[in-house]
Amino acid sequence: MTTIAIVSQKGGSGKTTLSVNLAAVAEVSGAIALIIDTDPQATASQWGAWRNNKAPEVIDSAPPRILAKVGAARAQGATFIVVDTPPHADSAASRAVEAADLVLIPCRPSAFDLAAIKTTVSLVRLFDKPAFVVFTAGPPQAPRMYEEAAELVRSFGIEPCPHILTDRAVYRHASAAGASVIEFEPDGKAAAEIAALHMWIAAHVNMSTRAHEEV
Ligand SMILES: Nc1ncnc2c1ncn2[C@@H]1O[C@H](COP(=O)(O)OP(=O)(O)OP(=O)(O)O)[C@@H](O)[C@H]1O
Ligand SMILES: [Mg+2]
Repeated sequence: MTTIAIVSQKGGSGKTTLSVNLAAVAEVSGAIALIIDTDPQATASQWGAWRNNKAPEVIDSAPPRILAKVGAARAQGATFIVVDTPPHADSAASRAVEAADLVLIPCRPSAFDLAAIKTTVSLVRLFDKPAFVVFTAGPPQAPRMYEEAAELVRSFGIEPCPHILTDRAVYRHASAAGASVIEFEPDGKAAAEIAALHMWIAAHVNMSTRAHEEV
């Protein structure tokens, strides 16, 4: 069982896009996936309603209930849980990080957006959970820009994830249709990006669980 918290206090950084697509690719890969929507804007829940509640299931949660809902979902057989959080909300982000095995901080690779993740990084550090910044919605071909962004992220004391979700219109088109990119354009580049990220997460969580058990 894996619980991923998606947090960033910066609005519009790609939290919900990452949450729904990651849960959808996990489901397609054989997991029983669940999205816990802790955002009063209820964007992930809206996406769930647009797809007539086709799996992955989306449930909502007030911040103090997140841990209990993760426990209940686990008891009911969920194997991959993604907790989507609102911007500017310490309590939802804190409770989501507390419940998570891994924290992902989506961030656009621009100077303003990168500067704004420092607060999120400080919050995540309090909980000592594995955490990575995932670059979102940047240009597909800009290796130098990603190298510089990665360097800046490291200077904040956090590692960038080796997989990125680049700026692709299909993310917007799929969401508007209540779909994930893996359903909307299974052979597309966005689907390949999210599948690669999911595989990396699965390997990473397995590795850290084993290391933890060996201690
Ligand atoms: N990789 C991407 N490529 C293209 N568009 C993207 C990508 N990621 C996100 N977007 C678009 O950017 C906008 C904001 O994304 P999203 O709603 O996922 O951000 P958020 O962090 O959840 O926002 P909020 O802080 O308001 O909850 C949406 O219109 C979404 O479709
Ligand atoms: Mg959102």
